[in-house]
Amino acid sequence: MKNIYLIGFMGTGKSVVAKALAAKLDRPYLDLDDLIIKKEGRSINEIFEKDGEVAFRKIETEMLKEVSVKTNYIVSCGGGVVLDGQNMADMKKSGVLVALSARAEAIYERVKHNTDRPLLKVLKPIDKIKELLHIRKPHYEKADYTIDTTDLNVNEVVDKIIELVKFDD
Ligand code: S3P
Repeated sequence: MKNIYLIGFMGTGKSVVAKALAAKLDRPYLDLDDLIIKKEGRSINEIFEKDGEVAFRKIETEMLKEVSVKTNYIVSCGGGVVLDGQNMADMKKSGVLVALSARAEAIYERVKHNTDRPLLKVLKPIDKIKELLHIRKPHYEKADYTIDTTDLNVNEVVDKIIELVKFDD
């Protein structure tokens, strides 16, 4: 079976939904950020602080390349994975892309107490969220399916995904 890649902005629920989806479908689960942290032996914050975003993106692309030769996995991706054309090609070739979306205010509420998102360590995170959402919109729109998670719980999102992808494998 093809992989199912969950893409979308930070705080749209990718990790928690991917885990629940994997459990419900009895399929293996991978989180791209977790794989990067494990491989690098340091946090995403540390990578951004010490080596910068460009270096992080390079590691992310290498990691995705490794993952995209696998099959049957539910893969939760970092929010910026869509920015690279090679990443998009690797995901499209090996799986179905499901984008999770949410309103900027909902995203802010979900991430405001987290300190592990280097891109949102700014004076006005809500403005940064809106700016990045605007820039990334055309990229997220390349997904096969999109689900707005603003007013849905995890189980509802999982059921929607199962319904959407049922003829894709
Ligand atoms: C990023 C999202 C993060 C992580 C890194 C960069 C982004 O993952 O990969 O901080 O560019 O949107 P989550 O979307 O899982 O928070």
